[in-house]
Amino acid sequence: MSMHNDIEKVLFSKEQIKQIVSKLGAEISKDYKDKNLLLVGILKGSVVFMADLMRELTIPCNIEFMALSSYGSGTRSSGVVRVLKDLSIDIKDYDVLVIEDILDSGNTLFQLKTMLEMRNPKSLKICTFFDKPERRTADIEADYVGAEIPDAFIVGYGLDYDEKYRNLSYVGVIKPEVYM
Ligand code: IMP
Ligand code: MG
Repeated sequence: MSMHNDIEKVLFSKEQIKQIVSKLGAEISKDYKDKNLLLVGILKGSVVFMADLMRELTIPCNIEFMALSSYGSGTRSSGVVRVLKDLSIDIKDYDVLVIEDILDSGNTLFQLKTMLEMRNPKSLKICTFFDKPERRTADIEADYVGAEIPDAFIVGYGLDYDEKYRNLSYVGVIKPEVYM
């Protein structure tokens, strides 16, 4: 049984994704040329994007990861964000760039940003591959956005449905029958 059979429509091909990532990489390399860049990947959704993006950077950087969870399950996030895995270093000397897979309601990143700001990094910005601006309820915008998309549930390139499909090398929409 191939997971490709569960995909109804491909929204971003491998090639399109590569182009978006190299454009972001060039922009970030330019903006952080004289800074002390620390990429903070949010587990698990950002791992694929993070691995590609860091290799598109022409400047040095450190990397860290955090794992968060919001109460509730399914395809919508809600409520209070808990830190499941915290950073292993003090960020006060770093220009922190948070790497996310997707900015949806913005609830997760809004709370994370507030939390990280209290630790006084040199600077704090957000880079997300996907942005669903229509869905926003929290007062937050990303500083770097790969692609804006309409309100649809997508999988692949790190994004999951029920923890599956993260290893698709493209991004697509799953068939309705898979949800049932
Ligand atoms: P937010 O707090 O509502 O912005 O939710 C962000 C998180 O929800 C992301 O890091 C994803 O884990 C998840 N998420 C939101 N939209 C999608 C989607 O279309 N596909 C897969 N995961 C999603
Ligand atoms: Mg998820």
